Amino acid sequence: MKDFEKDYPDHTEAMGYEHGDEPQCNTSANPNFYDVMEARVARRGFMMGGLATIATGLFGASLSGKAALAQTTSSLIGFKPVPVSFDDTVVVPEGYSFQILGGTGEPISGDMPAYRPGANTGAEQEHQIGQCHDGIHFFPIEGSSEDGLLVENHEYIEPRFLHAEKEGYKGVAFDKRSVLYDADGMRDDDEVRMEIAAHGISIFRTTKQADGSWAIVADPHNRRITANTPMEIAGPVRGSAHVRTKYSPDGTMTRGTVNNCAHGVTPWNTYLAAEENWAGYFANTTEIDQKPDLPREHARYGVSTNPQGGRYGWHLAKSGADEFVRWDATAKGASATDDYRNEPNTYGWMVEVDPFDPESTPVKRTHLGRFAHEGVVFAPAVEGAPVVCYSGDDARFEYIYKFVSEGVYVPGETDGSILDSGTLYVAKFNDDGTGEWLALAPGRNGLTPANGFADLADILVNTRLAADTAGATKMDRPEWGTIDPNTGEVYFALTNNSRRTQAQVDAVNPRAENNFGQIVRWNYDNGDHTKASFDWDLFVIAGNARNSALATGGSLGDDNTFACPDGLWCDDSSRLWIQTDMGDIGPDYEGPLKEFGMNMLLAADPATGEIKRFMTGPWGQECTGVVTTPDGKTMFVNFQHPGAHGSADDFATGKYGSSFPDYNGTVPRSATVVITKDDGGVIGA
Ligand code: FEO
Ligand code: CA
Ligand code: CA
Ligand code: CA
Repeated sequence: MKDFEKDYPDHTEAMGYEHGDEPQCNTSANPNFYDVMEARVARRGFMMGGLATIATGLFGASLSGKAALAQTTSSLIGFKPVPVSFDDTVVVPEGYSFQILGGTGEPISGDMPAYRPGANTGAEQEHQIGQCHDGIHFFPIEGSSEDGLLVENHEYIEPRFLHAEKEGYKGVAFDKRSVLYDADGMRDDDEVRMEIAAHGISIFRTTKQADGSWAIVADPHNRRITANTPMEIAGPVRGSAHVRTKYSPDGTMTRGTVNNCAHGVTPWNTYLAAEENWAGYFANTTEIDQKPDLPREHARYGVSTNPQGGRYGWHLAKSGADEFVRWDATAKGASATDDYRNEPNTYGWMVEVDPFDPESTPVKRTHLGRFAHEGVVFAPAVEGAPVVCYSGDDARFEYIYKFVSEGVYVPGETDGSILDSGTLYVAKFNDDGTGEWLALAPGRNGLTPANGFADLADILVNTRLAADTAGATKMDRPEWGTIDPNTGEVYFALTNNSRRTQAQVDAVNPRAENNFGQIVRWNYDNGDHTKASFDWDLFVIAGNARNSALATGGSLGDDNTFACPDGLWCDDSSRLWIQTDMGDIGPDYEGPLKEFGMNMLLAADPATGEIKRFMTGPWGQECTGVVTTPDGKTMFVNFQHPGAHGSADDFATGKYGSSFPDYNGTVPRSATVVITKDDGGVIGA
């Protein structure tokens, strides 16, 4: 049995996603301290002090927040931590204020069509901010900290909130993933057009006003990139048989990007959007069973064989127009260029966009691999050295990857084409605190024609299988990564993995039934990111006071308990911002994550290990996407899918789960929260 077949159920849940990406974290409340104890600890982290603390917890001593207080007080983190929250509000520390910017439906381009809650058309949505904001970056204009382009991803949609006022939805019991089909099982074209337009990327200019507030400004840079925008395919997969379609018989183009979770910013100042759970948008009914019949480049990623299998049934739009039919990956024609059997192969990539060139065509950079990309993070660029970046594959038991370019970085000259040649690697974490990067290249680590890998394009289209073959370490759902700009240390969030068994525990994934997650970090001799070996440790094992541990010793406490780390971002001062995604948690949630309250943002000092809870968000949301202006004095944080926990019956009665951000009875919507310090200081300090 191939490795991936054991994980098969994880990759076939297109119809059952909890909230647009991954299954809700948790199920059992019984993580086992003994697992942590048993795991061989990394060299640098979890020294005896930390483990002794966990052991004390095992035997029942109260650890509350006091253990954390024993740490060195940090000058990086100066705010008073906020408590866990169970309210439908945004809470920031004393001395801080916030405003809302850029909610779903706010106009940014074209004729600036007004936001009509739950009632806009598809054509209007093509000029409005999408749904489910995730990764975000502020690109300063001429270095300004008060004027820039905000660029953000839209991960998925909640159709019921997009169409709330429309006939067929209003007053009807819709859950968070359901859409309206007619008696023939078909969908309304304009609804589908709107859903396609609510995906992708929003780019808009935002400036600080005289009164200190931030506003969206009409500007030629403003742009919506949707799940239907033409895109170029670049790198080794370009032109290969894997990506030839009816739309692009020569395999050089495709349309759109979906399920864009985190992002990346290149050293040459462009934006990369990650395609995470794209597989769920397609249906391939060529075969009844997923395996062994479905092509491996579909089966290993979870493309559905259900006729209504596409998550939102876009291929079932009534008109049968090409822009809709192409979501059906069923082999219908005489060859691959007569249908869209290869359309899923044009997804699963990192998509590069130049926000300063609104006419530019987004580019899918295939050498960074094809998987459920959570995002990408670049090592600080060194003139004359290769460009290095890292990307996680967020599914249970998937991997962390690194790309090292063949060419070298030349400031002012290097562009995205440097990502089209080099070497993709996958991580192996040894239990002794060392690690190695295994090359995914022809002839290396078993990637030979005899083992089913014809060439580099074949390896990249089947990145997960290549990583299986190479022998990479199966991780607890790698989410965002970030790099401390001052030390070069790489941090990755491993959000949770409730299915890891005791037999599958290893040092870097040290808990069975891991409901709470952990953050791993690594570095290199001399800080050289191109090296094939590295040293790693765990920065924090997340959880409550009874089941958590810090690399510096002690456990989490009242000021900082959290679970399911997802978003990570290290600011210029090395402040590590941590965002949680515990699922769609609302006020009625009952389960092992209850004590953590609503999803939150925390700040950590990598040097001292100190962590404090900075902010909590409203009901149902996930806190994802964080960045500041260059001066560190304005922070942008995204709250995604408020109200997602709301029941279908409540929707029918006009109760929407959350009132964020309008608090006026209209549908909840994702939005960016802009945070400032009342004394005008640096956020977090
Ligand atoms: Fe979309 Fe893995 O979070
Ligand atoms: Ca999400
Ligand atoms: Ca995420
Ligand atoms: Ca997540």
